[in-house]
Amino acid sequence: MSEFEEKVIHMGDVPGATDIGTPFSVKSPVEVSLEINGDDVRREVPASRTLLDFLRDDLGLTGTKEGCGKGECGACTVLVNGKPVNSCLMLAYQANECKVTTIEGLEKNGELHPLQEAFIEEGAVQCGFCTPGMIMAAKAILDANPEPTREEIRTGISGNLCRCTGYVKIINAIEVAAKAGCKKGSMLG
Ligand code: FES
Ligand code: FES
Repeated sequence: MSEFEEKVIHMGDVPGATDIGTPFSVKSPVEVSLEINGDDVRREVPASRTLLDFLRDDLGLTGTKEGCGKGECGACTVLVNGKPVNSCLMLAYQANECKVTTIEGLEKNGELHPLQEAFIEEGAVQCGFCTPGMIMAAKAILDANPEPTREEIRTGISGNLCRCTGYVKIINAIEVAAKAGCKKGSMLG
């Protein structure tokens, strides 16, 4: 088994995600049916197509970025059934019948998500390449724990690398968004 296949199987930790199962030709087309940002999507994809390539190349959702392509930088983070996932390591068909949320799914009715607003206001975006993945990781943190400590935030984003900000402004932004969510009396949608 290749290193890539081993990593893919670890992504089976996501509730509802399809286990890699019986080996078959990676060129075989498979049908996937899933919900992406609230829209039903049904497509045929090669079995070897990563979720990242499916989102970016097949669906044009280019907000999700490819950094390392091997599970080390977190730039490609999306939520699958609410859990943060490196989409470069998950095959598209493993997300069959799952709910996927990408950065494009956070804006509602023309309004930015409080996390997006906080990242802008706190200067947590510099080159911006890590930002979509960082915000999706932050959303997973706040969905699970609306009032995290700075240490909990630091741990929650530990799989997401930023080469520009030094992380302090990113952690500040997540704290600000958490407070904004608490003030509104509900989490961040
Ligand atoms: S591109 Fe997926 S973890 Fe780096
Ligand atoms: S803002 Fe440039 S990598 Fe994070």
